[in-house]
Amino acid sequence: MKLYNVKSKSSSISYAGVLEKVEILSSTLRWAAKLERPEIQKLLNQCNSLRDEVMQLSHKERFVQASSKRTPKNASAAERRQALVDRSFVFEGVFGENPKLLESLEVAQKVAPTDLPVLIDGESGTGKELMAKVIHANGRRSDGPYITVNCGAIPDSLLESELFGHKKGSFTGAISDRKGKFESAEGGTIFLDELGELPLHSQVKLLRVLQSNEIQRVGSDELIEVDTRVVAATNKNLRQLSEEGTFREDLFYRLSVIHVTLPPLRERRDEIQLLNEFFCDEAAESLNRAPIKMSASLLRFLERYDYPGNIRELRNIIYRLSCLAGDTADLEHLPDHLRAGPAAPATSGAIATTEVASGSLSELKKAASDQAEREFLEIGLQETGGKVAELARRIDMNRSHLQTLLKKHGISSRDFRAKAGAGSAAKA
Ligand SMILES: Nc1ncnc2c1ncn2[C@@H]1O[C@H](COP(=O)(O)OP(=O)(O)O)[C@@H](O)[C@H]1O
Ligand SMILES: [Mg+2]
Repeated sequence: MKLYNVKSKSSSISYAGVLEKVEILSSTLRWAAKLERPEIQKLLNQCNSLRDEVMQLSHKERFVQASSKRTPKNASAAERRQALVDRSFVFEGVFGENPKLLESLEVAQKVAPTDLPVLIDGESGTGKELMAKVIHANGRRSDGPYITVNCGAIPDSLLESELFGHKKGSFTGAISDRKGKFESAEGGTIFLDELGELPLHSQVKLLRVLQSNEIQRVGSDELIEVDTRVVAATNKNLRQLSEEGTFREDLFYRLSVIHVTLPPLRERRDEIQLLNEFFCDEAAESLNRAPIKMSASLLRFLERYDYPGNIRELRNIIYRLSCLAGDTADLEHLPDHLRAGPAAPATSGAIATTEVASGSLSELKKAASDQAEREFLEIGLQETGGKVAELARRIDMNRSHLQTLLKKHGISSRDFRAKAGAGSAAKA
């Protein structure tokens, strides 16, 4: 395979030009068939350090360029992506040219150089965390710390100390003064994941930080000034939560000045093949094997499947296939719950011809997708004896998102638990 010649494309040297070459070089190397893997890895590493060096040269210049160039309104997806490349945008591994994704990236590119808080929402696995990293990497704080706090994973009683720090003796176990994540992220970005899980009393304190850039450690009266940019993510509808009174409306408005919504994978099916190839390659590299091939029926399944766990689920599936399959992966290598699932190729006959005559294609697609989702959930609950947490774990989906889906379809996990109970009683 002929390698891309880094020197030949353009003689004018600009940050944008060099970055573009690095991007092209690394994607060429990804597909190089005749290089040995260690060699490819070495060259990829060189690409990475080249990019890092360029990034360090001047953030300022990139931002001047960013604000002075505009993408024409009717630009194609490829042109829009190219326009981002020309502005030296750092993609951090974000793949895809879906219009909704590009729109999110364009917003990210505009907002990154500012200190405005950003709220990213979207279902679990749609790339919210990756987008937060993109915003950090493209801003003036990219050399500063990037600190993540998962608000859903820390017990309420410890969350404030985790975020704002504490004073010695302020509660049992506070044996010394400790700084919190806001202070640790000084000069950088704090990423507040699963913000919808933040308890109301902590929401008040977060609002204060956003308004005054000051924090107070737990148990202390001292105000400490912080210079930390807030990026938050949620898979919940915060507007709805604020209407229901579990999320402060003022905090929602403060955070959502810049609101980026990431589309679920089933709404960007055009990306599945591209992501599939990318993850096959990534998995092969990490598992130290040749990239798998896929049978036609498996490819068809992957194109049609609904991906309730979105890109994370697709990635997990590809890693599983790459681990279990020999040269060629087939349906048999899919996890049981997917093989049994309604989105398998057999469902292609689910739409009756009379329906085709009467409905629009998008309505039919929506109905088929809803039906598949419902059946998938029901089979999953059957298999787990109605245990929602267990199902969430198996399909790698956030539990509260799974609860929302069950509610949407009016499925009660209790019914499945009762059935499982009756089944085991009958056997006994
Ligand atoms: N556009 C994308 N291109 C490539 N990989 C992606 C993309 N979006 C998400 N991913 C990958 O999918 C997985 C889930 O993304 P993540 O940002 O953790 O999702 P979320 O925070 O929304 O649950 C990660 O491995 C991430 O790298
Ligand atoms: Mg996440």
